[in-house]
Amino acid sequence: MNVYLDYAATSIRKPDAVIAAMTDFIMNHNANPGRGGYERSLEAGRLMLSARQTVADFFSAEKEDHVVFTLNVTMALNMAIQGLVEPGDHIIISGMEHNAVYRPVYALAKEGKITFDVIPTSEEGLTDPADFLKCVRHNTKMVVFSHASNVCGSIFPLREVVRLAKERSIMTIVDTAQTAGVLPLTMEDVDVMAFTGHKHLLGPNGTGGFIVSEEAARRMKPILRGGTGSLSHLASQPEFMPDKFESGTINTVGIMGLKAGMVHLQQLGLREERKKEMTLTDRLLEGIREIGQVKIYGPSDLELRTGTVAFNMQGADNAELCYVLDKQFGIMGRPGLHCSPLGHQTLGTYPEGVMRFSVGSETTVEEIEYTLDALKQIGEKL
Ligand code: ALA
Repeated sequence: MNVYLDYAATSIRKPDAVIAAMTDFIMNHNANPGRGGYERSLEAGRLMLSARQTVADFFSAEKEDHVVFTLNVTMALNMAIQGLVEPGDHIIISGMEHNAVYRPVYALAKEGKITFDVIPTSEEGLTDPADFLKCVRHNTKMVVFSHASNVCGSIFPLREVVRLAKERSIMTIVDTAQTAGVLPLTMEDVDVMAFTGHKHLLGPNGTGGFIVSEEAARRMKPILRGGTGSLSHLASQPEFMPDKFESGTINTVGIMGLKAGMVHLQQLGLREERKKEMTLTDRLLEGIREIGQVKIYGPSDLELRTGTVAFNMQGADNAELCYVLDKQFGIMGRPGLHCSPLGHQTLGTYPEGVMRFSVGSETTVEEIEYTLDALKQIGEKL
């Protein structure tokens, strides 16, 4: 049996509709959108516009031209942070950040351009909005946070913090890498919502982007400049959306797959998917607890977490455990630090890390029982 429990890293199998949409585009419609006056290029442009509309609808964004496509969420977050920051700014980040946020913010601080604070975060990976307020200074420009931790699944209080930030004219940049396609998300009052296509949205690698509010789009400088197929006689970057931030040929084939993945998800129903995945997560957590000699990290309250489960088995190195699970049982998870040293420091698991399982749309109850049985067998041998 092969069991894939690494959805926090990527969704391994894509729906047939995703593969069909990509094949159809490359075989029947492939051309460079916005770069030619001929019908096929115009058609590719119309298909891109329709994909933009799907993303805007998915995140309840008002304007499809404020959807900017990038290659992944890391690129989107870097463009947003570096495009909005000004010398002397103060930035607030959560205690569970991935390096996609931590590294760009840390580098800006090291260069002496900004200062930053990390919101004190509980050992379960949870944030109290009151602690966000304690970090606010007169020069706080923005708060940047992962909506859910990629290490232990803890969910950040997005709505409360966005409201508190808005009241203080602090901009909000949200990393939805772990929640787009898992929890309902709306742009309401968020300045930048960054997303990745290849995880729970079921699209291919090389897709992602951000949705930006009108005010943030006005204030954000483009980090990437180049050909847009528009205003080509000018040396300066167009100011209108999405061309201000979309230079160079877009991954059109991938975006067609992403659109199909999002439509597929909407047909399945986010609420139903979440319910199914959390029932499996509940059983996984319960079963791991029963094995004994195991420490689980992250929130015990299912409402405050996603299907990402972090744990360590006493007497087992997490990298070795991962190896044995794969080689002997065909079970795929991710050990180590998960590109989130900050999150692990918060959980008290730095530098050793943890073993991580993350459930997704195709996980079954049989796979969970098989995994628990494998862990039990390994535990008995330790
Ligand atoms: N950020 C991804 C993970 O958590 C790759 O595995």
